[in-house]
Amino acid sequence: MKYQSLKGFRDIFGEDAKTFTFIENAAKSVLGKYNYREIRVPTVESAELFLRSIGETTDIVEKEMYVFNDKGDRKIALRPEGTAGVVRAYVENNLSQKCPSQKFFYIGQMFRQERPQAGRLREFYQIGCEYFGNDSVYADMEVILIAKEILEKIGIKNIKIEINLLGCEKCRPAFANSVKDILKKEFNGLCDDCKKRSEKNPLRALDCKIDREKFSNIEPALCENCKIELEKIKTGLKNSNVDFTISNKLVRGLDYYTKTVFEITSDVLGSQNAVCAGGRYDNLTKELGGPSMPAVGFAIGVDRLVEIINKSESLKIEVVNPDIFVIAIGSEESLKCGFDILTKIRNTGLFSDGGYFTKSLKSQMRLADALNSRFVVIIGDDEIKKNIVVLRDMKTKEQKEVSIEKIIGEVKNVTG
Ligand code: HAM
Repeated sequence: MKYQSLKGFRDIFGEDAKTFTFIENAAKSVLGKYNYREIRVPTVESAELFLRSIGETTDIVEKEMYVFNDKGDRKIALRPEGTAGVVRAYVENNLSQKCPSQKFFYIGQMFRQERPQAGRLREFYQIGCEYFGNDSVYADMEVILIAKEILEKIGIKNIKIEINLLGCEKCRPAFANSVKDILKKEFNGLCDDCKKRSEKNPLRALDCKIDREKFSNIEPALCENCKIELEKIKTGLKNSNVDFTISNKLVRGLDYYTKTVFEITSDVLGSQNAVCAGGRYDNLTKELGGPSMPAVGFAIGVDRLVEIINKSESLKIEVVNPDIFVIAIGSEESLKCGFDILTKIRNTGLFSDGGYFTKSLKSQMRLADALNSRFVVIIGDDEIKKNIVVLRDMKTKEQKEVSIEKIIGEVKNVTG
């Protein structure tokens, strides 16, 4: 019987795996600079956690979550995103007591049972950050700047940053009611999702792909304070050289957001073009049983960044090939000597492979070639007697005898 990975799940190897590591390292270095510390939270949580935080009527919870009962008949879910788990960890471990202001980042798989298509996977990777304990717009700006800096560090250009302010407890209900009124008036012509949203989550209808035209004339009615905050964000980001647009229909598909939300898209991608999204969620920590604690964060979709890199010739990560491949043939003494040489080479830090000594000379050479090794060291009984090895430059095809002590120097002369 042949096994295949499940639809929407995939293996990551070769150059893609390298690109993942490159992106993760770039993100870690930027996040570290801003004092974000790593947090690792479980991949599986109680389903209730996501229901409470992301929202009952959201697509993620209603249609996309992998939910099942475990042997103890507990309803558990594969995490569809990282924020809920980090907030749960923050509350459960009483992290606010040590210092209310805490900054975390995480890297890991998320799971959503969406219809698989280009850019949309059922298992995908996110790099996320969550900043607790700062209710000022300067925290919002910080996370937007971090996202931009990570993308820049990776070399991704032509991104579009869209920002919106959803309003606060004072002004948001009135705005939601005016959207609700339109939904009521248009009810019969609405898509099934918007019909459901009309009562429980009217604002989500604003960025519905099918019905959003119906709201083209509606403007969010922000209170004075929210207007001032939006102005501060605009000025602060302009001063930090961030190109952005204010998009007053941007409403994200997760219910926990309050005030600022943002999304970064890339025109290199197809319809699934969001590479990063985030916003403020000032009520979630309290909602999940913790102290009242403002928070803001984002998550980057790593798979989508890999796709952008793969599509842009200039961004491709350089493949690093071995400097030396060690071949040994003949008596056990030669093979032992080959292995000792390989170990010595590795101890110098050179990138090396070899040790396939039970294979013929021809097939060891073929392997060296397939691995694109720059040099090959060949050792056999004749060479042992003379205390030398044959060093072959696979690029120039030149071959010479060198003493064992000189191998490293000869190779480093060429590879630097
Ligand atoms: P999100 O918008 O659901 O936000 O996801 C963030 C990013 O994850 C998206 O912009 C996209 O790049 C990537 N992504 C989402 N779904 C898929 C998929 N099916 N396949 C591939 N990539 C995908 C969140 O998850 C929030 N937790 C972000 C956040 C953190 N807000 C505050 N803190």
